[in-house]
Amino acid sequence: MELDKAIEKRHSVRTFKQKKPDWRKIIEVIDAAIKGPLAGNAGTLKFLLVDKSEKIKRLAKASQQSFIQNSKYLVIVCSDPAQLERSYDDRAKKYLRQQAGAAIQNFLLKLTDLELATCWVGAFQDEEVKRILNIPKDIEVEALFPIGYELGKGKQPTKPDLDNNLFFNKWKQKKMSPEKMPRD
Ligand SMILES: Cc1cc2nc3c(=O)[nH]c(=O)nc-3n(C[C@H](O)[C@H](O)[C@H](O)COP(=O)(O)O)c2cc1C
Repeated sequence: MELDKAIEKRHSVRTFKQKKPDWRKIIEVIDAAIKGPLAGNAGTLKFLLVDKSEKIKRLAKASQQSFIQNSKYLVIVCSDPAQLERSYDDRAKKYLRQQAGAAIQNFLLKLTDLELATCWVGAFQDEEVKRILNIPKDIEVEALFPIGYELGKGKQPTKPDLDNNLFFNKWKQKKMSPEKMPRD
């Protein structure tokens, strides 16, 4: 699939078919995620793939979002802050968030490319998620991704328009007046 098409097609999916995806496709998706930019190129992003239905049920409860329990797989994206905190002090928190976002966007586009579907789940009880998955205290759980095949026809939400969200040269300036370039 072309990049533009994947960007256009990607949308959050909260209803899944019974059909179980091939778990190897999900490994491919995680491989695309980990190829994103990383501060200092350090291995500080971790992924957990869950296929045990009992655990998926408990994680749905820990998120208070019942649609999660209808997915066949859950991917949990985590950050290990220790190394970045040593290298970047108080910038580390920002870097961790940004690199997780970059990896997740790769993840979402690759899923779309493979005709799989998900919804970014950011609302959950951190401590409960960690308890279910034996995740150590010092690891940050970034987000959960229930994965499956979309049931029904997806609806593309309206997106913020470019006109009101892009400025040129200074905050709130909406007009671009390109500098004249010297001729060759
Ligand atoms: C950081 C973040 C957290 C989110 N958390 C949730 C969530 O807990 N539950 C949910 O149903 N959707 C969640 N979403 C999905 C958004 O609701 C969704 O991306 C938004 O409505 C735009 O729709 P789209 O993804 O189809 O473009 C989250 C998205 C982001 C980026």
